[in-house]
Amino acid sequence: MQEFIASLPKAELHLHIEGSFEPELMFDIAQRNQIEIPYKTIDEVKKAYQFSCLQDFLDIYYAGAGVLIHEKDFYDLAMAYYQKCYENNVIHTEIMFDPQTHTERGIAFETVISALQKARLDAKEKWGINSLFIMSYLRHLPEESAFETLKQSLPYKKWITSVGLDSSEMGNPPSKFKDVFAASVKEGYVPVAHAGEEGPSEYIWEAIDVLKVARIDHGNRCLEDDKLVNEIVKRDLALTVCPLSNLELRNTDVITNHPLKKLLDKGIKATVNSDDPAYFGSYINANFIAVQEALDLSKEEIITLVKNSFKHSFATDEQKKSYL
Ligand code: ADE
Ligand code: ZN
Repeated sequence: MQEFIASLPKAELHLHIEGSFEPELMFDIAQRNQIEIPYKTIDEVKKAYQFSCLQDFLDIYYAGAGVLIHEKDFYDLAMAYYQKCYENNVIHTEIMFDPQTHTERGIAFETVISALQKARLDAKEKWGINSLFIMSYLRHLPEESAFETLKQSLPYKKWITSVGLDSSEMGNPPSKFKDVFAASVKEGYVPVAHAGEEGPSEYIWEAIDVLKVARIDHGNRCLEDDKLVNEIVKRDLALTVCPLSNLELRNTDVITNHPLKKLLDKGIKATVNSDDPAYFGSYINANFIAVQEALDLSKEEIITLVKNSFKHSFATDEQKKSYL
């Protein structure tokens, strides 16, 4: 089964590039930028990666991203992830990036997007990997700041497919970003949002009704509301589920209780993704293997999950035809 999973060409739809920052690369970049980090060894870093909730993780994730300064830093970060895509047989990926994590520290939007674009072209040439970018607004910041980010993105609009919403979910409902999402859609960006990872099912309702998302990131807590489940099925909205992220952030107590199979059994178009693989210790194949073993998924169910990702990607119809 492990070989079968590894051999399948896959798409990844939920991946934060800042969450793919491996400790080894973080040490290298911190050293060349002469930035102190609070760890002396890789082992110390790995020990610090024990989280009791989303916020616990986010504090460490933003601190890690703080060593990224120059275009080359972002380029190296992205190329390291594309290398993992190649190793995991990911042929199409939709990469989220958090501009505000960097612009709030005085890094230019252009530095981040130019590096990502260069890496995208090089990964296509080197490994044939297709990729799209999702610009994610940080929901713990005011909507004003998201508007500023939208404005900064406009000169690079042709490189960005979609807008997302991430960071601290509780207390920051999707409706807080109603106007900036409407403005983003007007600019041609496809809306997605994290909802129902830690937050209640009401936040998923807001994501679909107020932000009018084309996909829901996580969405696990939809299972608490039958009417919502029916609506997600009726509207054919996919969920980008991240099993080992859910385990590491304690949104699932043990992997055998992960809701992925329940979602599939209810007719929801679930997909499997890695979220922040460097922090959770697992890229996409490891996520597939973990749920396959824990939930006893059949080969057919694995194929359904993989096909869901391609079908619900934002690839062109022509690309989808070639993938499926
Ligand atoms: N940013 C990076 N990973 C995230 C997650 N799992 N949830 C919310 N925001 C995030
Ligand atoms: Zn995420």
